[in-house]
Amino acid sequence: MEYFVRNENGSMMAEDVSVSSLASQYGTPLYVYSERSLREHFAEFDESAGDFPHLICYAVKANSNLSVLSLMASLGAGFDIVSGGELARVIRAGGDPSRVVYSGVAKTESEIAYALNAGILSFNVESEAEMERISKVAVSENITARVSVRVNPDVDAGTHPYISTGLKTNKFGVPVERAFTLYQRARDLPGIKIVGIDCHIGSQLTSLAPFEDALDRIVKLIIRLRNEGIVIEHIDVGGGLGVVYNEEVPPSRKSYMDAILNKIKGLNLKLICEPGRSMVANAGILISRCEYLKEGETVNFCIVDTAMNDMIRPSLYQAWMKIEEAELRDNVPDEVYNVVGPVCETGDFLGKERHLRVAAGDYLVMQGAGAYGFSMSSNYNSRPRACEVMVSGSKHRIIRKRETAEDLWRGEEL
Ligand code: LLP
Repeated sequence: MEYFVRNENGSMMAEDVSVSSLASQYGTPLYVYSERSLREHFAEFDESAGDFPHLICYAVKANSNLSVLSLMASLGAGFDIVSGGELARVIRAGGDPSRVVYSGVAKTESEIAYALNAGILSFNVESEAEMERISKVAVSENITARVSVRVNPDVDAGTHPYISTGLKTNKFGVPVERAFTLYQRARDLPGIKIVGIDCHIGSQLTSLAPFEDALDRIVKLIIRLRNEGIVIEHIDVGGGLGVVYNEEVPPSRKSYMDAILNKIKGLNLKLICEPGRSMVANAGILISRCEYLKEGETVNFCIVDTAMNDMIRPSLYQAWMKIEEAELRDNVPDEVYNVVGPVCETGDFLGKERHLRVAAGDYLVMQGAGAYGFSMSSNYNSRPRACEVMVSGSKHRIIRKRETAEDLWRGEEL
């Protein structure tokens, strides 16, 4: 269900609360998340897997707020992490480290030692050198490291080049043939227990075919490994399922799960998946306030108080994010605007050529902002980071305070 929709008076709602009232109470820029929608998204993944042994490892990077993580943990999620910092967040939020898979190409020795001592489920190993390093740290910590090899299946995910990860030109994972050799090597390494196999081919995929192609290659490898006496307990299919920002038609969570199960059934494997965007993107909005309208020579500007430091997706990937008025009004003309922020960069925009009926002081709502929004935000231009609020029905609470000037220079010395 959609939880950020207009009521009969034309007011955009966040579940049962009007977006404008949230913006006036908490100020802008403001991230608002819907607890109901987070619960529903998790349940759709979980229920689609049914009785098949599985673990949904929410990809922390998409939205790493402690309250989001603790909600996920309470629903039974595991976590996909890519840094020691993300592991610390998971633990702080009450997540179970034995349900954590750790991806990422540059794990340091101290991060590896931290994760080993926390007792994570699996390191998703991204290179030969990393396997050697994990073995070395495991021996010195006297803890066995559970590992999977992240296989780069060389499939085109058909998504933005910056968020494609499964091509041989990408830095991620190990090509299929080398993965086979790496498993043979890992078998003989001290401190290592092979538990799984992993792949993640990219993000915002809107068709099932690349997932299926990748899985075909991985399943072949699993069978080859079994013939070699190397037993794989789980298959981690990564994340990547796309969402609707504009007119995309991504597969449903159920058909995504069905397609995966169809490829792996009968192999006696546990399924792990690492959804990020699909869990949180459409469970969140970003509210901004129009500060000024400015006529340009060729285009008009709607200047808002939210910038690329709060939401970088449009600037970084030319991502199209839907922007709507919080309140429908018919007393101002419909004009075309570039919606831009206060940061001193021409690349600082939230949307281009948008039809809006807006006046200074009005609130605007960006949809689909729950994933890779706050988590990619920064303090550029010395802008305190936004406030985050969780809504559940008619209740709402701050889950991250708006930063203050002191937060801007925390840790600095005069
Ligand atoms: N697992 C691994 C190993 C990943 O690298 C990622 C995302 C995920 C899971 C979750 O993928 P998702 O289900 O969210 O597609 N900042 C970009 C997206 C970068 C994705 C990076 N990896 C954006 O805003 O579009």
